[in-house]
Amino acid sequence: MNRAKIAVLVSGGGTNLQALIDAQQSGIITSGEISLVISNNADAYALTRAEKAGVKTAVISKKELGKEKFEEKLIETLDGEKIDIIVLAGFMVILSENFTSHYPKRIINVHPSLIPSFCGEGFYGLHVHEAALSYGVKVTGATVHFVNEIPDGGEIIMQKAVEIEEGDTPEILQKRVMQQAEWIILPAAVEKVSKQIIMKEEDTNGSL
Ligand code: GAR
Repeated sequence: MNRAKIAVLVSGGGTNLQALIDAQQSGIITSGEISLVISNNADAYALTRAEKAGVKTAVISKKELGKEKFEEKLIETLDGEKIDIIVLAGFMVILSENFTSHYPKRIINVHPSLIPSFCGEGFYGLHVHEAALSYGVKVTGATVHFVNEIPDGGEIIMQKAVEIEEGDTPEILQKRVMQQAEWIILPAAVEKVSKQIIMKEEDTNGSL
């Protein structure tokens, strides 16, 4: 295997997807290739970003299919494209154990806080930053972790801290956490895991 095949799952703006696309273009990601972008939301701007970068897209709606069929369709689509790594980049759907158990150590998520703070069900997007500000922490950040059956509970791959500043609003803090942490550690973690997968694959093939 030359490069690990990456699928990115998105729901909204897709700035983390953009960071991955840019990292691939600038040579930060060399061990993996973004092969597919899947959105649960047909209106997600992330789909436009993928199309502009020439990446294949698919829309799979949980609202239309219901949870079970939605996950079945996801698995069918991912396996049909022989995807090695699934990156959740602003994907606002919690996946069941039925799904996560198909891809042990193959699903990566970026979360906008230092796990185990401000994470788990209900903590997504701006809510995470609202919670950090209302608690009064002075440092927050972002975490990239493997995904298992516990929401935001899988093994941590990378974290980066970000200072909270006087006068921060959830929106200002969200932007700083993205710029100073998410857009840096997500591509770095994707490269790290892609490299590990390629090396493992080469070992297996070599020992046959
Ligand atoms: C990002 O801050 C991401 O960490 C967060 O949603 C935002 C999506 O932005 N994800 C979660 O909260 C998941 N629990 P994007 O669409 O511009 O990448």
